[in-house]
This record gives sequence, C-alpha cells and structure tokens, in this order.
Amino acid sequence: MTTEPSTKHRSETVRLHRQGIFPNSRKVAADLIDENPVLCFCPTKLSDRARLFIDSFPGQVAYAVKANPDETVLRLLAKSGIATFDVASIAEMETVTRTCPGSKIHYHNPVKSRGEIATAWHTFGCRRYAADSIEEISKIRHTIGSTAGTEIAIRFRLPSRGSSVHDFTSKFGADEYQASELISYSVLHGFKPVLTFHPGSQCTDPHAWKRHIEAAGRIAGRAQTRLTRLNVGGGFPARYSASCGPALSTYFEHIRSSVSSVFGDHPPILECEPGRSIAAPAFSLLTTVKLVRGWSDDLFINDGIYGGLLEVAQAPDLLPFYRILRKDRIVDSKKCRAFTVYGPTCDPLDVLPTKLDLPVDIQESDIIEFAGVGAYGTAMATRFNGYGLVSQVTVADSFSE
Ligand SMILES: Cc1ncc(COP(=O)(O)O)c(C=O)c1O
Repeated sequence: MTTEPSTKHRSETVRLHRQGIFPNSRKVAADLIDENPVLCFCPTKLSDRARLFIDSFPGQVAYAVKANPDETVLRLLAKSGIATFDVASIAEMETVTRTCPGSKIHYHNPVKSRGEIATAWHTFGCRRYAADSIEEISKIRHTIGSTAGTEIAIRFRLPSRGSSVHDFTSKFGADEYQASELISYSVLHGFKPVLTFHPGSQCTDPHAWKRHIEAAGRIAGRAQTRLTRLNVGGGFPARYSASCGPALSTYFEHIRSSVSSVFGDHPPILECEPGRSIAAPAFSLLTTVKLVRGWSDDLFINDGIYGGLLEVAQAPDLLPFYRILRKDRIVDSKKCRAFTVYGPTCDPLDVLPTKLDLPVDIQESDIIEFAGVGAYGTAMATRFNGYGLVSQVTVADSFSE
C-alpha cells in the first residue's frame, strides 16, 4: 500500500505571492496597502547564505525543507547549488521532487509509517532513511524488500547541555551504546552505515558539534565499522534579539578539527542539513498596528503567535529584531516604552511572551517589521480565527541585524 502524495504543501495555500521586485521593505511599507501581514523575501540573502554553507562547510550541504518549504525558496536553493533536501514527510518529498527535479532526498524523520516508507521508496526513489530503533530499521527492511544501495542514518543523542533553543533529545536519538548496536544491525542487514545527530535548533555553542563528533567516533569504534557518512545535522544559528551564536566559520572550524582528530586519515564523508540558519535571514515580516489602546499599554497587530510569530510563543529567545516604519520612514526609537503586543485573534493567548520596547508615539497604521523570520514561524502559521493569510513580496534588500 502506498500513501497518495498531497498535491500542495499547506503553507503555500496561505501565501499570496505578489509580482514585481521592491527595492526594500520600507518601500513595501509605503506602497503596499494590505490588510494582511506582508512577508518580504530577499532572494540575495537566501542564495548568499546557501553559498556560505556550500563554500565553507567541510562537506556536503543539504537543506532541511521543514524550516521553509516555500517553492520559491526551494527553487532558488537548488539554483544556488543545494542538491540534497532533508524531508520529514511525503508531502515535503512531493514538493521537492516537483520543484527541484533531479535533486536527492534524505528522509530523516526517524519515525515513518510503512505506507510512507513504501511511497518514499517506490514513488520517489528515496534511498536514505533515518532511524533510532531496531523496530524502525526492521520496518524499513521489510517494506522495501531489497537493501542494496540504501543508507540508514542512525540518529544518536547526547545528554542535553541546554545550549540550543529547541532541544530534540526528548523525542529522538539512541544513546551511544544503542547507536553502536543499531549500526551493527543495519550493516548486518546490508544497509550502508551513516550516523546522524542534531544538537538542537539554534544551538549557540560550537563545542556541541565537537562532543557529538567524538561520540560518533566511539560509536563507530564499538561497532567496529567504518562509517560511510557522518551527518552533523542542522542546529546552526540565525540571529535573534536574545540569541545569536558566533560566526558560522567558528562552527565549521570546530567540525573540521574534531573530524580530523577523531577519524584521522579515514574520515567519513561529512554532511550537514541546516534549515533555520539558511532560511531565517531571507525574510522579514511587516505587521500593521490595528489599535493602540489608550487606557493601557496594549497594542494590537495583524499577525501573532498563531501566524508568522508562532515560534516566539514556543521560545521567547527567538523574538526577532524589530523596527517601526511609518510609511517609508524608520521611526526614531530613542523615546520608547514597553507595550504588550497582541495578535489579531480573539484568543487571549495570542500575545507576544515579552513586552516590546516601542516608540512612545506609536500609532494605528504604523508598521512593526520583524527581521529574520524566514524559518519555522511562517512554515507553522495557522489559519486560526480566519487569520494567517500573508502576502509575499520580493525585495532587493531586506532589514536584518
Ligand atoms: C532531522 C533534522 N535535520 C535538520 C533539521 C533542521 O534544523 P535547523 O533548522 O535547526 O537547522 C531538523 C529540524 O527539525 C531536523 O529534524
């Protein structure tokens, strides 16, 4: 039995793509009268970021589609040199195959149904699957029949040290000892052995990669196996108002030197699969002030935690940098006070978790522009209360910190 691929990714149905290229988001704010929040997409930022990974990471670079599955984004990434896409679902696989024909797919969701595995194998020719249990490997083995040329990426984890904003260790990953057994088991059944880890999303400590790479060496040693590939995950940071890591070059240097000291002259082929760090800087979000309530410090905007700012509710550290626009002018933010910022729905939970410092004279129709929102928020946005529609425009240059 195979699962029918869906025809469209959900996030595409909530974006109204507008034609033309604006010089910058200030011009968009001045010219575009729109009831919806507006996403400003800067293709140059996206391709520059992809090129930075491709040119400087000491191995192959895949893109984690979940961070932003917008078709314009995927097409541009493919054009910029990304040839492999990490997908979490059949719907993402279908989107990638349609928009970036000829690209390679890694199905790195460690838990998949038999129907999903069968569709990935037969319909999409996927030859890389992640797993963190014997049960999942055996499910894959029995579903696809032949293992020839197929890679199983064993996902392992180390105890969390709190250096990332989203910690994945509670959900996925075998411990070191289990991972060695899983490697042996998959080799025994004819799969090519790959190890993978994810240090947590928005991980600001490059040493996390060093610790995981050292563990990968121990896991392979215990299994007496030479790894064909080592996938060092996503997790590389973007820039937020309360969370910024060092430059990417620092991460790459830690990775390069740890791989060399752990694996010596026989290193596995290295891979990474960033999502956030590539997609986030390429978008800013223009939200419009609907009301400043005179008798309080409350302010209402036309997007919120059920829309493009959803991640801020999950992790307040991911509050983007922001600025205020009045037409195409940046409003002076010297005299500010703290406002509680509510989203457009009737739900009292639809409020930013921290107050924002905003100009004292902020008023209806002013625009709060949030920078670096290209990852996750927009991909997870809902249509709760009938909101969630966004317009997307292209800009030659965008607001970033
Ligand atoms: C398997 C896998 N790879 C890569 C990523 C991308 O992570 P990030 O966006 O932090 O780079 C994720 C995120 O959930 C993931 O689950």
